Parts: sequence; C-alpha cells; structure tokens
Amino acid sequence: MKHFLNIHDVNDLNALVQEALNCKKNPKADQQIGNNKTLGLIFMNPSLRTRLSTQKAGINLGMDVMVMNFTGEGWALETNEGVIMNGDKAEHIKEAAAVVGSYCDIVGLRSFPTLKDKAQDYKDHVINAFMKYAGVPIVNLESATVHPCQSLTDVITIEETKKTAKPKVVLTWAPHPRALPQSVANSFSEWMNRTDYEFVIANPEGYDLSKEFAGKASIIHDPDEAYKGADFIYAKNWSSYENYGQILSQDENWMVDERKMNLTNNAKFMHCLPVRRNVVVSDGVIDSNNSLVIQQAANREFAAQAVLKQILSNG
Ligand code: CP
Repeated sequence: MKHFLNIHDVNDLNALVQEALNCKKNPKADQQIGNNKTLGLIFMNPSLRTRLSTQKAGINLGMDVMVMNFTGEGWALETNEGVIMNGDKAEHIKEAAAVVGSYCDIVGLRSFPTLKDKAQDYKDHVINAFMKYAGVPIVNLESATVHPCQSLTDVITIEETKKTAKPKVVLTWAPHPRALPQSVANSFSEWMNRTDYEFVIANPEGYDLSKEFAGKASIIHDPDEAYKGADFIYAKNWSSYENYGQILSQDENWMVDERKMNLTNNAKFMHCLPVRRNVVVSDGVIDSNNSLVIQQAANREFAAQAVLKQILSNG
C-alpha cells in the first residue's frame, strides 16, 4: 500500500482485516518496523478517536508521532491555485504540504468538506493536494468525501461479532440538529459493497447518497421496512447530497430506538461516534448489551496500525 485515501487503495480487504486482528492480539509485535520513522498527523477539524487511535497505532509500531491542529495553530491555508493571496490566507497548501512532508515519513490528514460547493468538495481537493505536494504516503483521517480508517474499523467490528457468514447490514440515516458531511456514510457504503454482506441503506426522501458510493445497496425510504431481519444497524446522520449540505428533515421517527430494534434479528447497534443521545439513538439502545460503539472505537487503533504497517512494509 502506497497511500490510504479510500477503498481503492486496498487490494485484499480480508488480508487487511486479518492484519488488524493480528495487531489487536499483539499490538507491540512489530515495534521495529517504525523505528526511526516519523508519523505526522494534521487536523483541520476536531477529533477524539482518530487523533488518539492513530497516534497510538504509530507508537505501537515504534514510530515517533507529531500532531498539529491547523485550525487556530497553523497559518490559514489557501487551497486554490493561481490566486492573489492578499486576503486572510497566509500560506498556500503547496508549501504547507511540502514542508510537513519534509519532516515526516507518513502524513495523516483530516479535512472536512465545506458543504457549500458540491463539485469542489467531491474533488477532495485538500487531501489530493497533500498527496501531490507532500512527497510521502498520505493516510486519510476523514476527507470531504470518505473516512476509510473508520470504515475499515467497521468491517473489523462486524467480522468480530457477526453470527452468520452474510449478515444483513443496515446503514440508517438519523436526525441531527447540524448539517454533517456524507463522508462516513459514503465510505461505509463503499466498504460494504466490497463485502458479500446483504447491504441496505435506509434514509428519508432527499437523502440518497451519491450513486458512486451507494453502489449496489438497496435503498429503502421506510425505516421499519429496512430494520426487518437486520443483523447490524449502523446509524449516522448526513446532510442532503441532492440539495447539497441542506437539512431537509428532523423526523424523530428515524432515531434508533427500542421499538425499531425489536423488528431486527437481535441486531447489534453501531455508530462511529461522537453521537447525540436521544437524537440519533435512544439511551436504551446505546446502553444495551447489543451496542458495539465502544468496541468500534477501540478497534480504530488496530485499523490504523494495520494501514500504517502495510505502508511501512512497502518501504
Ligand atoms: N469517529 C471519528 O472519526 O471520531 P473523531 O471525529 O472523534 O475522530
């Protein structure tokens, strides 16, 4: 693996999942592989899990790890080409990426979408510019369109807990007071489409994801119908792709609750976190024995470790 930008950088998903599970069994087994290597983690948006799990993964592999929050700590970045920089942006992404790359052997980057300009966001311009100018492998810590470290974690967690070879996995939209990116949902869909699971996306009218990411998923606009027989319920809010970045619904019927979970095949509950209790999911569901959210978050460490190990092994 050279970079880890999305599912297309993964040749063998089963092998990567197995690598992560091996890391989980013995996290410090490969301490020598990252000796004298530096991992730089750049955040243009807030993070708890991604920041700490990727830092821990680098430490497990013997790497030195540097973390920088660009928002508030770095210079304001200009990301467009050919502009006259006489406004409030002090540094161009061309220099910033190249400088970060000069200090690091691998760079992880988080950069959310604007949710204002669909065409610009879906070019994933910021992470692609880092890939172009940093000169070292790039790990996507959530970009404008996808969150592959989270999706790998999600596959690992399903593989650890599934009771049938081909479980029914339902990605359900849930309400939220703020407009959120489509990246987690896009990415989860892409990764589910790489598996042989039965994959369903449930969302209100107006919230269909881009077909590029939804792929072969069945799209259902009735949550009760979608939940029937499910083995996994994965909840996430996203803003509209069609009416880009808009909140079209706050319908509480889409919150994950005990009534709908009773329609499932005793399904496990999943969410990437952070989550708003009693808006996205009821206390009763997230606090139940069927909730996987903490296991999921813990697995972020080993997903990141498997990715870093493959990149380091590539030389
Ligand atoms: N799931 C996830 O990416 O969490 P953070 O935003 O806290 O990193």
